[in-house]
Amino acid sequence: MTKILITGACGQLGSELTLALRSNHGKDNVIATDLRKPSGELADGPFEELDVMNADKLKQIVENYSVTQIYHLAAILSAKGESNPQFAWKLNMDSLLNILEIAKDKKLEKIYWPSSIAVFGPNTPMQQTPQNTVMDPNTVYGISKLAGERWCEYYYEKYGVDVRSLRYPGLIGYKAKPGGGTTDYAVDIFYQALEQKSYECFLSENTYLPMMYMNDAIKATIQLMEADKADVKVRSSYNIAAISFTPEEIASEIKKHIPDFSISYQPDFRQKIADSWPDSVDDSAARDDWGWSHDYDLSKMTEDILKELPKIL
Ligand code: NAD
Ligand code: SER
Repeated sequence: MTKILITGACGQLGSELTLALRSNHGKDNVIATDLRKPSGELADGPFEELDVMNADKLKQIVENYSVTQIYHLAAILSAKGESNPQFAWKLNMDSLLNILEIAKDKKLEKIYWPSSIAVFGPNTPMQQTPQNTVMDPNTVYGISKLAGERWCEYYYEKYGVDVRSLRYPGLIGYKAKPGGGTTDYAVDIFYQALEQKSYECFLSENTYLPMMYMNDAIKATIQLMEADKADVKVRSSYNIAAISFTPEEIASEIKKHIPDFSISYQPDFRQKIADSWPDSVDDSAARDDWGWSHDYDLSKMTEDILKELPKIL
């Protein structure tokens, strides 16, 4: 019987992934955990308060619920990480090692852990970034994700832990606010467009970044976790892609629906982070190995968000 534990379940990704997994596996078979309490639909299912740094409590929950799989989402993201690099490193690394150790000791069936385009850096090829390439991240978040990828592959090779991972681009959902990333503007812009009809962007108008609608991110995650073990050939983390756009391009798309929307630009420290990341990534390994394909382009995503977001504002 599959029993899934999710860390960071109340975050931007976790709040949607938890509901999708509950719908697939049954509400009682997916245990949400986080530092903060769940609200809304997320509260309708098992929840445990868990600081992922607490290995003893993690072990206790795994034993109590007979957990077979863990989705480890809790982390400090790129922009927030820069305000306290030592803490971001400690949280992102110690928590992953806690999860990998328990997976090894308890012989858990599968682990999911997300990496990020933040593993790339200023010397990485910017266009269609290959799966294997120069990786010189210059944020503590990116350094922790790159080190995490190495640990995942290590635990797979040395101990047979079936850990699977995706290098997500910027994730764009409307159901939960993002938690401190460099790509957060692409979520905030929809809230501001509907509420204020204007948005001041913290990145410059021509900053290209790889992005993905949350529905596609959930689809990719579940597809990777359900793939045959033999088809998961990359054990560090898969490049995964959907769309790339600039703030100016997403603003023009929004203007098609809200003609009096306006955008201005006031780049801050996050510009430097964005400039060190790729414009687009080559995800052919994911497409070839386990059949990944995305559903949402910029116009389809914008239309969906502007239709759905007003219902929850
Ligand atoms: P988020 O900041 O929205 O959510 C993180 C959650 O972790 C929060 O609910 C927070 O309360 C919880 N958390 C923080 N510290 C914790 C601790 N010590 N113990 C337990 N819980 C703790 O982040 P997200 O956007 O949902 O990202 C989830 C994962 O996906 C992260 O690993 C992130 O690096 C990765 N990722 C996200 C994006 C993106 O664009 N959102 C892109 C690439 C990778
Ligand atoms: N979207 C994330 C961030 O900006 C990338 O991992 O931090």
